[in-house]
Amino acid sequence: MCGIVGYTGPREAYPIVIKGLRRLEYRGYDSTGVALQNNGLKVYKKKGKVAELEENIVGKDLHAHAGIGHTRWATHGEPNDRNAHPHQSASGKLAMIHNGIIENYAQLKNELLKKGYTFKSDTDTEVLLNFIEEIMVNNECSLEEAVRVALKRVVGAYVILLLNEDDPETIIAARKGSPLVIGVGKGEHFLGSDASPMLEYTKEVVYVNDYELAIIRPDELILKNLGNEKLTPYVQKLDLELAAIEKGGYDHFMLKEIFEQPQTIQDCLRGRLDADAGTITMAGIDQYAEQIMNAKRIVMVACGTSWHAGLVAEYIFEELCRINVEVEYASEFRYRNPVISEGDVIIAISQSGETADTLVAIETAKAKGAIILGVVNVVGSSIARISHGGAYTHAGPEIGVASTKAFTAQLAVLTMIALKIGHAKGTLSNERYMGLLKELNAIPEKVAVALTHSEHIRKLASKYKDARDFLYLGRGYNFPVALEGALKLKEISYIHAEGYPAAEMKHGPIALVDETLPVVFVATRDSYHEKVVSNMQEIKARKGMVVSVITEGDETSTGLSNDVMIVPECDEILAPMLSVVPLQLLAYYIGVVKDLDVDKPRNLAKSVTVE
Ligand code: M6R
Repeated sequence: MCGIVGYTGPREAYPIVIKGLRRLEYRGYDSTGVALQNNGLKVYKKKGKVAELEENIVGKDLHAHAGIGHTRWATHGEPNDRNAHPHQSASGKLAMIHNGIIENYAQLKNELLKKGYTFKSDTDTEVLLNFIEEIMVNNECSLEEAVRVALKRVVGAYVILLLNEDDPETIIAARKGSPLVIGVGKGEHFLGSDASPMLEYTKEVVYVNDYELAIIRPDELILKNLGNEKLTPYVQKLDLELAAIEKGGYDHFMLKEIFEQPQTIQDCLRGRLDADAGTITMAGIDQYAEQIMNAKRIVMVACGTSWHAGLVAEYIFEELCRINVEVEYASEFRYRNPVISEGDVIIAISQSGETADTLVAIETAKAKGAIILGVVNVVGSSIARISHGGAYTHAGPEIGVASTKAFTAQLAVLTMIALKIGHAKGTLSNERYMGLLKELNAIPEKVAVALTHSEHIRKLASKYKDARDFLYLGRGYNFPVALEGALKLKEISYIHAEGYPAAEMKHGPIALVDETLPVVFVATRDSYHEKVVSNMQEIKARKGMVVSVITEGDETSTGLSNDVMIVPECDEILAPMLSVVPLQLLAYYIGVVKDLDVDKPRNLAKSVTVE
């Protein structure tokens, strides 16, 4: 969490930093701040979103050629002006921004308190900054040296950027566990939590690795490890256009991203799936195909929406590949000393590729000898880099905090892996394999058809917006979709929603049912359908309001439902890519009709880089 931006070079730094912060706001929006080298350090910060800071500093002299900026998702200390970054050191000569958590900050703080330091904020960041300054003063060393020494004492995760009043063109940066990209321009450098702040200025980027420290000047980038050895920066070409991170005429990123799905699923299949030739080509999977085929167990680790994609994949892999699959919350998996046996394959699923829980879970599994495959959206992200192999989802930048297009792209990738392995292993017949390839190829078009019902769903949103709770029910492949529908609604509308296996409902949640409770059934036509219809009847009998996602032409479900949301017919294995779409729209429109900030729901952040 938290977005960080930096610039040093001949241009005005403030507009670059502030525009970068607007693009990184998805990472946190509790407070915003900038530090500028303007005849001494000038620090401006404010509780709230970037726009609030901008309004607050109208009329100030913001001229500077070097600056850093931060948008915060609060960990230590409540979101207020005092705890906003940048922080200044005791002397006022250093300013620092930080993304991550310093776990041993209390110990460091005690040491500093004993030396007479006082603190203006409640943050771990201010502690680290003063710790660095203390080393600098005591050892009479450079800031770079002090940072290196300090970081050897730090337990936790960080990206830090520092400005020093006495060295106004230089930014010192270091990373462990949180993302940092450096954009290399001509006589200038850009920094960001991702590449979006630098897109219109340069396509040359360096992804900084853990335990690396960078000294950045307009015409110089020095990269070192914490042992003070120089490293050669690996400059990569960025394959991302500005249009991909703009709203493109939609009211919100979330709506744009929902409507992008026919294209993003297509992008994900392109160059990989050849339905006529009957082939699936995925280089990062192909090289581990043997190990996957022979795996005794596949463990999917992920969080949130990505975890739901893992749950769908569990059904698909077990059906097509006959391999035992377990789906784990990354945060639980990492802490319980998991049993990893030889022959286990771990699939890490993540949109951002930076989720701290997932990252540490796979580090744990990797250390125990497991093969790690990443199904990741953000190219060059930490999870992608730490994985042995895997496949990108190619959904393009997902900026709305609620994950939508990343989910369907994850399903497309995971389905392709399962098809490939099942076919190679012989657990999936050639006939069914060929049929499924054709069906998968047709999914983008069918998602486009599902989206044509958006106006109807917008009306349903107005009808159900005042419900206090929602229950989402589904079975088989659609059970995880019920969970995902409930998560979307909670995140965007702040309405309490629970997802449940439809049959399990009678073991408890049915007690909630009365005439005020909308019960959303994910009830596309599949092998569980008759059973789900019985569950609908049980809800109807108790006067619950039944709202169903159904396959076109399903009159039985229509007859039992107060309202329906229609998707085209498809093979049950692929149904989640269609049935989730109306649920994304329903959550979106309820959020909009309630006048909520759907792209930046309260308390959330897009990329959860803290535990
Ligand atoms: O970037 P990741 O896929 O690893 O993120 C995992 C979750 O934090 C994420 O899916 C979160 O639950 C979203 N807000 C869901 O909409």
